[in-house]
Amino acid sequence: MTTRPPLRELLEDVLATSPQFPARFYERLFLSHPELRPMFHRSSPDAQQKMFAQKLMMVVDAIENPALLRQELGSVATSHRDYGITHEMYEWVGTALHDTVAETLGDRATQAQLTGLVEAWKTLTRTVFELS
Ligand code: HEM
Repeated sequence: MTTRPPLRELLEDVLATSPQFPARFYERLFLSHPELRPMFHRSSPDAQQKMFAQKLMMVVDAIENPALLRQELGSVATSHRDYGITHEMYEWVGTALHDTVAETLGDRATQAQLTGLVEAWKTLTRTVFELS
C-alpha cells in the first residue's frame, strides 16, 4: 500500500470539503488583485478552475521529485512567460491559495500543513522560474 503525500491529502480534503474551492480561490485572488482578472480571457472560468486544480494535484504529487516536477511544469513555465506573469504574481497566487485552504478547513488545517503548503509553493515557483 502506498501512502499519499501529505499535501495531496490536504488538497483532496479541501476539495471534498468544498467543491467550490477552485472558484473561491479565484474569487479571493481577484478581490485582492482585480488587475489580474482581464488576463484570464482564453478559457471559461469553469474550465480554468478545473485545469488549475488538476495541474496542482499533479504538481503536488511531483513536489519531492525534481525531475518529474520540471517535466510537469515545463509547459506552464512557457505559457505563463508568454502571458506576462511576473514573479510578484506568483506570490499573490501563493497567498490566495494558502488563504483559501485555511479558510476552507478552518481549525482542521494544522500549522504544519499550512507551512508545508507555503514551502511547496516556494519549490514550485523556483522551478517555474528556472524553466522560464
Ligand atoms: C505554478 C503555479 C501555476 C500552475 C500549476 C498554473 C496552471 C495553469 C494551467 C494548467 C493553465 C492552463 C494551461 C496553460 O495556459 O498553460 C493556466 C493558465 C493560466 N494561468 Fe496559471 N498556473 C500557475 C500560476 C499562475 C500564476 C501565478 C498566474 C498569475 C496570475 C497565472 C495565470 C494564468 C493565466 C492568465 C492563464 C491563462 C488563462 C486563460 O487562458 O484564460 N497562473 N495556468
